[in-house]
Amino acid sequence: MKIEALLTEGRRLLQRQGTFSVALDVRLLLQAAAGLSHEEIIAHPAQDISREAESIFYASIARRSAHEPVSRILGRREFYGREYTITPDVLDPRPDTEVVVELALTHVKHGRFVDLGTGSGAIAITLCGEADQLIGIATDVSAAALQVARTNAQRLGVSDRLSFHKNTWFVGLTGAFDLIISNPPYIATHETLSPDVANYDPHIALFAGEDGLLAYREIARQASAHLSGHGVVIVEIGAGQITAVKSLFESHGLKLFDQAMDLAGHARALAFKNP
Ligand SMILES: C[S@@+](CC[C@H](N)C(=O)[O-])C[C@H]1O[C@@H](n2cnc3c(N)ncnc32)[C@H](O)[C@@H]1O
Repeated sequence: MKIEALLTEGRRLLQRQGTFSVALDVRLLLQAAAGLSHEEIIAHPAQDISREAESIFYASIARRSAHEPVSRILGRREFYGREYTITPDVLDPRPDTEVVVELALTHVKHGRFVDLGTGSGAIAITLCGEADQLIGIATDVSAAALQVARTNAQRLGVSDRLSFHKNTWFVGLTGAFDLIISNPPYIATHETLSPDVANYDPHIALFAGEDGLLAYREIARQASAHLSGHGVVIVEIGAGQITAVKSLFESHGLKLFDQAMDLAGHARALAFKNP
């Protein structure tokens, strides 16, 4: 079949499922199946695609119809200009998290950091990639997630400044940090999520107790003991969590001194330090 016909058929199949961003999804899946660039797809709509590529494409469309995100089907996601391998063991890093990294880089450009709950390694690897005087530890309670982060760090050329540590939050970490950063799980267990999140992101990366604040409680309780004198704590928060998270950290002696909004205008990243 020709490129043009496959694009039309792919769109028709996805539209039936009420998928958003149909045209983009179909193009990306066809590019990946056929090993073609965006330019090649546009320039040669009448080009025939091999039978093998065609069946990979239809298999991908079937997965997308079942609400699997394109990044999961492709096994990769771009974050802050770098491409990350993702597997079912890690959260698919979200564009909103780039705001968290951005806020960190405005305050800390050198020294020692820890990324608590690193997942694919997106935050820790971006920090090392953007600031060559930062050295860090990426932690996670999931050994499988840490393995993905380690592989990403090697491929993206920062493994000489990033080490990996498997444990819960601060357990086993020693020495003071100039930056403690985390995008912890922050969804309340009763919340209903869309199938593309609920069925594909690991639940350990999403849910944090009945009020969604379980991880913040742990991090807030221990953060100041691990912070250097001028150190900064930066956490990602969910929409509407600013008041609760601010008071949690303040109850442990830290002061909110900066924040950043996400693309939808919600406070997404909070920065705390010692008063
Ligand atoms: C929301 S995901 C964030 C992943 C990645 N940092 C990102 O922003 O894409 C939260 C991560 O915290 C990890 N996690 C959950 N509970 C943890 C715990 N008790 N201690 C350490 N990490 C934990 C999960 O395995 C997951 O990788």
